[in-house]
Amino acid sequence: MIGLYYSDEVVEEVRARNDIVDVIGSYVNLKHKGNSYTACCPFHHEKTPSFHVSRERQMYHCFGCGVGGNVYTFLMEHENMSFPEAVESLAERAGVSLPERAMSKDERKKEDERSRIKEMNKIAAGYFHYLLKTEHGKNALEYLTKRGLTEETITKFGLGYSDKYSDDLYKYLKSKGYNDEEMLKAGLIKVDEKYGASDRFWNRVMYPIIDPNNRVIGFGGRVMGDGTPKYINSQDTPVFDKSRNLYGLNLAKKSKRKGIIFCEGYMDVISMHQAGFDNAVASLGTALTVGQVNLIKRYTDRVYLAYDSDDAGTKAALRALSIMREFELPARVISLKPYKDPDELIQTEGTQEFEKRIEEAISGIMFEIGKLEEGFDQNDPQERTEFQKEAAKCLSKIMDPLERNNYIDSVSEKYGIDKASLKEAVTAFGVSKAGIIDNSVFKQQERRGSPQEEKEKQNLKSERVLITWLINDESLIPKVCLYLQPEDFFDEVYRDVVKMIYEQYNTNSKVEPAVIMNHYHSMEEHEKVASIMQQDFGVEIDEVERSQAVTDLVKRIKRKSIQKQLEGAGTDLMLIKRLMDEKKAIEKIIINVS
Ligand code: CTP
Ligand code: MN
Repeated sequence: MIGLYYSDEVVEEVRARNDIVDVIGSYVNLKHKGNSYTACCPFHHEKTPSFHVSRERQMYHCFGCGVGGNVYTFLMEHENMSFPEAVESLAERAGVSLPERAMSKDERKKEDERSRIKEMNKIAAGYFHYLLKTEHGKNALEYLTKRGLTEETITKFGLGYSDKYSDDLYKYLKSKGYNDEEMLKAGLIKVDEKYGASDRFWNRVMYPIIDPNNRVIGFGGRVMGDGTPKYINSQDTPVFDKSRNLYGLNLAKKSKRKGIIFCEGYMDVISMHQAGFDNAVASLGTALTVGQVNLIKRYTDRVYLAYDSDDAGTKAALRALSIMREFELPARVISLKPYKDPDELIQTEGTQEFEKRIEEAISGIMFEIGKLEEGFDQNDPQERTEFQKEAAKCLSKIMDPLERNNYIDSVSEKYGIDKASLKEAVTAFGVSKAGIIDNSVFKQQERRGSPQEEKEKQNLKSERVLITWLINDESLIPKVCLYLQPEDFFDEVYRDVVKMIYEQYNTNSKVEPAVIMNHYHSMEEHEKVASIMQQDFGVEIDEVERSQAVTDLVKRIKRKSIQKQLEGAGTDLMLIKRLMDEKKAIEKIIINVS
């Protein structure tokens, strides 16, 4: 928990005056169902609604992707607001006037820094755009026009020009009252000990990077012509995380076209939008990331790759496909041959040809197998066998049995492989392990910890599950609190949550999860706390089983706590004796749940 920005009372008043159903209902189409409201989750793509909002609890939860929280969490997650921004926005909505912010110095600094960086970026983007239309930007404008961009496109993407003096923007921002330190943090200048401050971008065509909430978060700058480096990009800053944003998404999210098209370059995105393919996006100077895949899943379940047709582009496409498969986002691949990239194809062949290429896009799996085939001499029986084995391995990664069979059919047909043998080979690769891809990125994520780490995880899980029980069934609280104090919980966040649960129960005889959420102000903490507040365990169990389960959880947590205390007891014999007694006693408890 970090220091408070606004007092607990204010945060709670604002929350209580903003009914969660009304607030979320203004962003999402909620349907009334039983005692909750449901919708298709705005945080991941789905066809059947698993997103629930409860008026009674003033909480939301998605059973599909696991997100959840109170009305503040929703705004933080959906609108990318910070906690204080969410409080301010809801205060305004409910007509509550906020007192002067009572925030810690650090927090004020961080918040102000973020909003000043956003402001600065906006001013810089405006300035670059302005320069493009002056005498200074003549060459840049000519460059863009020569590349086929219309005035409308240039305006739509807010393209600009950074002047050839190496401190032009620096001086401009200085005149607007910004200091060196914040410009540096925003990634707009560089500071050299000897030569002082200079612009990061100069004499380049500027592409502002705009997030889905229409805020300028960074820049890419291209040389005009053949110089190097071809692009300079903003580094990550407090408002810019390359791995969780996509170029063009601010526009693509409004597109009426089906799906999202991923391409490699800024120029490709711009050119495609101009040609009417306004569902194109691109990464930001890095390979595709897991964060970007999850981001895009909120918007679509149909993805196309239009990566460059050279070796580098093919490699990037294969890598992207494996990430997308891992996160269950099937992709189709658009062939651009003989052109290098979408921009070139559109400039030479036009819109209709590209439309045709989209229709002819092939599934990621068929693309991968096609690429595999190129690597083997099909006239050599040995190599042919190797190719077939590799193809089988590739097919074994398809989780869905029907889909897998369909692909086995297609592949055997296309490459003249005996169907039964291919099927056998696929099975031999062990379909059960299929999802786990031979790729170190995922290996790391999948890796199990040491036995010690695994045990820690188990312990945390017990704490988490017990808290979920307490929140869902208040009658357990007086029974459990006989044996467990907040201090018995190992995890700091859980310890605080338990403390609040006990306090709420003691004063009101009830627990209000939405109020507990108020105490957390970062998205990370909200995610963690919300995950223990979900309602449904997915299984109905009877009284005996419930009693057994709760008793087990309490014992496990208590044992662990006593163990920790024993480790710290040193030579205090009295304490050791008391702990040993407690240890014995805890084994005998039975908690009866009705
Ligand atoms: N890129 C980069 N730094 C470079 C080269 C490329 O960050 N030195 C990133 C940029 O995001 C670029 C993308 O990789 O948009 C694709 O590179 P490339 O195909 O070379 O650039 P295009 O955007 O297609 O630009 P152009 O058409 O002007 O060559
Ligand atoms: Mn390119």
